Amino acid sequence: MAQIKKAIIPAAGLGTRFLPATKTVPKEMLTLVDAPIICYVVEEAVQAGIEDIILIAGRGKHAIEDFFDTSYELEDRLAKDGKLDLLERIIKIRNQANIISIRQKQALGLGHAILAGLPVIGSDPFAVLLGDEITMGFHNEPNVTKQLADSFAQTNYSTVSIMNVPENQVRKYGIAEVEEGASSPFRVKSFIEKPDPGTTKSRWALPGRYVFSNKIMSILKEAKPTLHGEIQLTDSMNVLCHNDAVFARTFTAKRFDAGDKLGYLEANIELALNRPELRSEFAKYLIELAQQLKVNN
Ligand code: UTP
Repeated sequence: MAQIKKAIIPAAGLGTRFLPATKTVPKEMLTLVDAPIICYVVEEAVQAGIEDIILIAGRGKHAIEDFFDTSYELEDRLAKDGKLDLLERIIKIRNQANIISIRQKQALGLGHAILAGLPVIGSDPFAVLLGDEITMGFHNEPNVTKQLADSFAQTNYSTVSIMNVPENQVRKYGIAEVEEGASSPFRVKSFIEKPDPGTTKSRWALPGRYVFSNKIMSILKEAKPTLHGEIQLTDSMNVLCHNDAVFARTFTAKRFDAGDKLGYLEANIELALNRPELRSEFAKYLIELAQQLKVNN
């Protein structure tokens, strides 16, 4: 059984959907309740059994690296003040995995970002978790990355997550066209990046969780820029599904695009409602707000 022990988290994009905040704050460092988005992504990887996490960072993204580093002064102060719960949480964040940071010198697309991880990935299979997407699993269920890693362990084929989206959303995503008449996991026939309306019947969108056999790296090495002058991961996945095989599976979890304003706000609300210390007060506030909105509309 091939276990997935390495993951790439691309976090070198420009985050233009979140300007002006992202002029100085990396999108992946925007806060969800009390931790940056990327902290939830790393936790998902660790809970899926990943030991080495390769962060792909870009210019002006030091804050991401610092977040996973030791802060002696802060830790010393928390210890002296007896704030041991906080201290424990801070230490756990930095010790949970080997965090290796690699620079993507220019934001030339997701495919280019993943190829930057090659020196650490070597010849191993690996997971990819987009640094601005978060998932919230249900109790006692393996998380989305673990679901993919388990599929890979059984088949040795690259396996990616898919979710059903309405027709008017298709153009926002990488789309998987899958073999019909089957059930999840589906064998993928082709991938298309952000298709124009009417060019595909598929509603299966890629939400940003993947497990790849190492073959994808050889394909990425040969890849040329296409849409927006970027090296698109979906182009190389398309080659992989023709040369080899790629499977796509649905998942059980809530997923939020926290790199998008609406997705970010929704994620904040749901995560806050999951926190025992906030839940009842916050729910009360939301119910009152919903009643006001109802009256005003
Ligand atoms: P996005 O397309 O959502 O990121 O990429 P972006 O380009 O930063 O976003 P907008 O559209 O301008 O707001 C998904 C993930 O891939 C990373 C991003 O940081 C994000 O976490 N990414 C994207 C890279 O690491 N390098 C790239 O060249 C592009």
